Amino acid sequence: MTKIENSTLGIVGAGSVGASLAYAALIRGSARHVRLFDINAPKVTSEVLDLAHGTQFTGSSDITGGTDIDVLTGANVVVITAGAKQKPGQTRLDLAATNAAMLRSLMPQLIERAPDAIYVLVTNPCDVLTMVAQEATGLPAQRVLSSGTVLDTSRLRWLLAKKAGVSTSSVHALIVGEHGDSEFPLWGSATIGQSPILDWVNPDGSRFSPAELDHIATDVRDAAYQVIRGKGATNYAIGLSGARIVEAILSDEGSILPVSTVLTDYQGVSGAALSVPCRVGSAGAIPVAGTPWGDEERRRLLASAEAVTDAYGKVAV
Ligand code: 2OP
Repeated sequence: MTKIENSTLGIVGAGSVGASLAYAALIRGSARHVRLFDINAPKVTSEVLDLAHGTQFTGSSDITGGTDIDVLTGANVVVITAGAKQKPGQTRLDLAATNAAMLRSLMPQLIERAPDAIYVLVTNPCDVLTMVAQEATGLPAQRVLSSGTVLDTSRLRWLLAKKAGVSTSSVHALIVGEHGDSEFPLWGSATIGQSPILDWVNPDGSRFSPAELDHIATDVRDAAYQVIRGKGATNYAIGLSGARIVEAILSDEGSILPVSTVLTDYQGVSGAALSVPCRVGSAGAIPVAGTPWGDEERRRLLASAEAVTDAYGKVAV
């Protein structure tokens, strides 16, 4: 498939995440047309107006939207951000029942308007909801993905780059598994530049110790809780992460991103949606082979699969 010209990004939900995603997409030019849908009329109307008022400064993208789901008609990518959000102290998996019910009602309406779209779940728990959406629509797994650990990977690269004194673009490290408490880093294949991470020498002459790397991974896992405690929700980084994924799809980039899809026989996992390295392009997200997995990493992926499958089992119909 090729770069989707005159592309349309549909966003479900005009809350802080959906609006931030729309804002990021306009600034980055992720799609030619951005369409924002929400059932809350004053909210979606004012968000669309506020965003549209700035489009003189954002290149050729345009934005419209409203409470009629027909605004999503013909979308090439639909990102779902609507639903209940974590309250301080809540885990993402705690939201499964509420948001699964919303999603099961929503998916048939979306498919009717955008039958050929790639669907991206941002609403949490995004892995469980990817399984719900894929089961509810019967779409191929590659066309129903979630932002997964793209955001967590960005958090990891930011922390490592700060200590290593390099650009985040020179930090090649991934968080994989559940976008949640069982996520973990693939340290075995992590490098800074061409240097395996344990061989890297920081500007102060120090190296990353295994204990320090584990501490950084814990900070990444708990980052959302920290932000939610302070401002009630996260929105900017997930909005930027979503725009990045949308670009890879609409430009048929073929970029390798840790998005989440329902896996089949991947490192012993089948049936669970988890983030692993995927080739992302206009056909959706396809897990790539060839990533080195150590025994401990494989064990943690299976544990993550158990957590997500257990949560899905509680909301399956
Ligand atoms: C985040 O990680 C809450 O899943 C959201 O920022």
